[in-house]
Amino acid sequence: MTAHPLRSRNWFGRRDLDGFAHRSWLKAESFSDLVFDGRPVVGIANSWSELNNCNAHLRQLAEAVKRGVWSAGGFPLEFPVISLGEVLMKPTTMLFRNLMAMDVEECIRAYPLDAVVLLAGCDKTTPAMLMGAASADVPALMVTGGPMLRGTWRSEELGSGTDLWRLWNERRAGRLSDEELCEAESCMSRSSGHCMVMGTASTMAAMAEALGMTLPGNAAIPAPDARRLALAEVSGRRAVELALAGGPRPSEILTAQAFDNAIRADMAIGGSTNAIIHLLALAGRVGVPLPLARFDELSKTTPLLVNLRPSGKYLMEDFFYAGGLPAVLRELLPLLHAGAPTVNGKALADNVGDARCWNEDVIRPLAMPLAPEGGTVILFGNLCPDGAVLKQSAASAHLLTHRGRAVVFEDHEDLHRRIDDPSVAIDERSVLVLKHVGPRGAPGMPEWGAAPIPARLLRQGVKDMVRISDARMSGTSYGTVVLHVAPESAVGGPLALVSDGDEIELDVPRRSLTLRVGDDELGRRRAAWTPRPPRFERGYGRLFLDHALQANEGCDFDFLRGKTPVRAEDTAGPSHS
Ligand code: FES
Repeated sequence: MTAHPLRSRNWFGRRDLDGFAHRSWLKAESFSDLVFDGRPVVGIANSWSELNNCNAHLRQLAEAVKRGVWSAGGFPLEFPVISLGEVLMKPTTMLFRNLMAMDVEECIRAYPLDAVVLLAGCDKTTPAMLMGAASADVPALMVTGGPMLRGTWRSEELGSGTDLWRLWNERRAGRLSDEELCEAESCMSRSSGHCMVMGTASTMAAMAEALGMTLPGNAAIPAPDARRLALAEVSGRRAVELALAGGPRPSEILTAQAFDNAIRADMAIGGSTNAIIHLLALAGRVGVPLPLARFDELSKTTPLLVNLRPSGKYLMEDFFYAGGLPAVLRELLPLLHAGAPTVNGKALADNVGDARCWNEDVIRPLAMPLAPEGGTVILFGNLCPDGAVLKQSAASAHLLTHRGRAVVFEDHEDLHRRIDDPSVAIDERSVLVLKHVGPRGAPGMPEWGAAPIPARLLRQGVKDMVRISDARMSGTSYGTVVLHVAPESAVGGPLALVSDGDEIELDVPRRSLTLRVGDDELGRRRAAWTPRPPRFERGYGRLFLDHALQANEGCDFDFLRGKTPVRAEDTAGPSHS
């Protein structure tokens, strides 16, 4: 049936005791002998969960994938993996991204799978699936769950998260009642799917597509749209072809050129700052050298084209109707590696060459961008020797060059205890500094970077301030927020040494972040600094503390970098047809 030996035959093609057992036990699921006739087994890794609303519709999607696999002559087997629900899971899903990646990798390796379809959606589920699949390196493609339909409250459109933060600030400033807030709550999330602004989930779906790991057009199709199920069906069919051909495998798609393409796409769509961490981690899995500075190099020469919240005006539904990611990639083609291979067997340029844009206010032409540079910049300086990240497309122009005095919060609890304390001297020029919220400090690097603005300043009409931390920020958030400061404060990075009243200078055009304190004084503070005791003594938390890399390396575990492709003996086992 195939020139390529199928891994699954090592389980089901054997005429020995093991073969008897493998077939016999699976027949308990009511399969006939026909499924063991030498057809490829396609795994469907499903991050469905009722604890994760963004992925709660993925079983329906899995049925569509199965339809495709059966119709192409394959044998689909769906299996669950951990699901990371961004909103309900505490303290942060980021603590568990690597755990999910391990789950995905080991399931792919341990089971008789010839190819895998990865079903993801909510923020961390997409990178975790890609990381696990990359390390196992069995042929794989992804189908994401798609964004929710747009929210509408009264005459206003509501975008996930972005408008939550805005409305909450209105409430804190006393301009919105509890009743109005409650009404808006029911209007914002009204269908299946993930957040429908250009937050982390939408960005990571776009990254998967730009990398070449999904079929073209996947990222923007709304979750409830019938075309998403149709794409899932076609993806199932394609997975059978991948299994029969033995590839392309993730390592053949996730090349240095693919990462360049994804970074340019990220910059053009005004993507989430979280994409940087996830792309760094994924590159580490496939051995592609990707320094943080590469993001800035490409940002400087990639215009911002997509007008979506939180950087712009529209929502993912509008993006889909305007042409989705293929229309963006087509505009970017002169800047991209056009020949990069993708999972449908064609080069990137072949997939998007005919794409059309149907609304140039949503997706701008290359010659008429929203901004000449990409959405995200990388900063360096004595406060962040290993880098920091700022989303300039969602920041305030008047704060991109700013000097101010630090107001320091030692951790997240301290911030929330004192931010509205009138005895804390804060004005709109202050720089809010938040420590111990990084990968090891929080731990797990939660999305706490967009620290709240004091209510008394909100009431005065202040909408933004410079905030600096080693945390991440929700992809749906906005503001002049410096994130991912590395090394983090918990391991003694310079952020740990900042004191109240220190002058800090942010200069985005020069890409610098400077603590205006003399080296002698910093040396004295460093000598007096002591780390906090570890938050976890045992279990997975301990594993995370011992092995999580810093933000500029993607926060993967040090021992998970690289890949261990499925064993040769699994693919070269006894075959029967
Ligand atoms: Fe899941 Fe936003 S909460 S994507």
